[in-house]
Amino acid sequence: MKQGILVRTENVISADSCINYLLDRPKMEMVGLGLLYGKPGLGKTTYAKRMAFSKGYVYLRLEATTTPKAFAMELLSNLYKRFGLGEYIPYGTANNLFKLCLQSLEDHPDTIIIIDEIDYAFRHPQLLGAIRDIVDETTAVVILVGMQNAKDRLSQINEYYFDRCNVFYEFKAVTKKDVGQLCRDILEVPFAPDVVDYVHFNSCGNLRKAMKLIHTVEEIGKHRKLAKVSQADLQV
Ligand SMILES: Nc1ncnc2c1ncn2[C@@H]1O[C@H](COP(=O)(O)OP(=O)(O)OP(=O)(O)O)[C@@H](O)[C@H]1O
Ligand SMILES: [Mg+2]
Repeated sequence: MKQGILVRTENVISADSCINYLLDRPKMEMVGLGLLYGKPGLGKTTYAKRMAFSKGYVYLRLEATTTPKAFAMELLSNLYKRFGLGEYIPYGTANNLFKLCLQSLEDHPDTIIIIDEIDYAFRHPQLLGAIRDIVDETTAVVILVGMQNAKDRLSQINEYYFDRCNVFYEFKAVTKKDVGQLCRDILEVPFAPDVVDYVHFNSCGNLRKAMKLIHTVEEIGKHRKLAKVSQADLQV
């Protein structure tokens, strides 16, 4: 099966429109902040990483232990890499590092930054504040990616933040059309249309589960050297 492809699911198409909406906003009136959120396994991280790779967005992933300083360091080294300024090992206070990030973003308008696992920032007001400064002080588009309840939590934690967020999109369960697209783009063995029904039904809208099932289809097709895999082959 083919790897590393970003299949254009309905969620991918909608997330793309969110980014385009923010890029086209009236920049003097609106900040470039958006939130993508949703249940596990719907393709949020894959979208963020693969778009970052193909379009040159900056992708950062927060971790349980990410401090404001660690965030500033990671952002700065990513920005330097992105702008071709070479490998840079940032040093200095969190405040200075952060100022360098703002400077770099001012020099490169409309930079797109995606911050995955934003839920980890919810208990760090300083970290949330730093991200807010980026959108308030530069033209960067900042896309936060979080869990299913991220939107509600953000509104509870910080009303000002929530108010600045100009686009929200909740990733939905994958549709049968998405699964069909996934099978066509990824599978390297021929398959009957009922395989799409099988994968769709058993994955319950979750792409992570769908990928495992697609892998099984591929394995069965290859091992048994089938001319075409059909649902009957998967059920034995
Ligand atoms: N658009 C896509 N094209 C191809 N494969 C995809 C796509 N989206 C998701 N996948 C596959 O589904 C798996 C699960 O997706 P991903 O990890 O992006 O979900 P997530 O929404 O970030 O989940 P979590 O909330 O648990 O972090 C990926 O490892 C990848 O194999
Ligand atoms: Mg994820």
